[in-house]
Amino acid sequence: MTSNQDPRTRLFVALDLPGLAEAERLVERLGDTVTHYKIGYRLGYADGIAFGRALAAAGKTIFFDLKLHDIDNTVREGVESIARTGAHYLTVHAYPQTMKAAAAGRAGSHLKLLAVTILTSWNDLDCAEAGYAGTVETLVRNRAKQAVACGMDGIVCSAQETRLLRVAGIPETIELVTPGIRPAGSATGDQKRVVTPAEAISGGADRLVVGRPITAAADPAASARAILDEIGVALG
Ligand code: C5P
Repeated sequence: MTSNQDPRTRLFVALDLPGLAEAERLVERLGDTVTHYKIGYRLGYADGIAFGRALAAAGKTIFFDLKLHDIDNTVREGVESIARTGAHYLTVHAYPQTMKAAAAGRAGSHLKLLAVTILTSWNDLDCAEAGYAGTVETLVRNRAKQAVACGMDGIVCSAQETRLLRVAGIPETIELVTPGIRPAGSATGDQKRVVTPAEAISGGADRLVVGRPITAAADPAASARAILDEIGVALG
């Protein structure tokens, strides 16, 4: 659990944008309002790795959401490359082999590894369709325990599951990072396990990931400020 009370350290803005020009424009508009950025597939597969490296060098906290899952050697070497960018966080899927390979790859670096349990766009029916026996809650709990055993620094889950993970014994030192955040009244899109910023913080989420409610807003900085205010109130 993070004890930092600055709301800005609790919010990762997901830069799910098509390319460098759009990302630079948004980061400029957000200015000092936002200090933490997440770069995923869309920007990452464009110019996002170099852009994340530059943002990290400029003092921003960078989270590469690449959700790695491959053979051990490929995962280990991929993580080694990401560790060299100066980024602060990287996601891998919460499969034991993958997590162990990732832990080997980041050895000696400051990169924190986050294990993605069950995507926030999935519900129990999606898990069944994919062939998993067990509910979202059971799978998230089991994978989180395996993530701790494999040396991960944090867990990606819905804020609907943060309390159950702490009750299940996930230590406070393990960060709970939660996408699927939607301010009251905003569009859910493809997300199924959604929670408001205030509820997420009250439920014990350490960090919130917010994309479209900020990136698609007419005034992204105003939207980010409103979410940060809500986080600040919830933090007390
Ligand atoms: O636009 P939105 O707020 O839904 O963006 C959420 C971000 O968090 C996306 O970049 C998505 O890839 C990521 N994410 C997620 N659920 C997970 C892990 C990551 O939505 N379990």
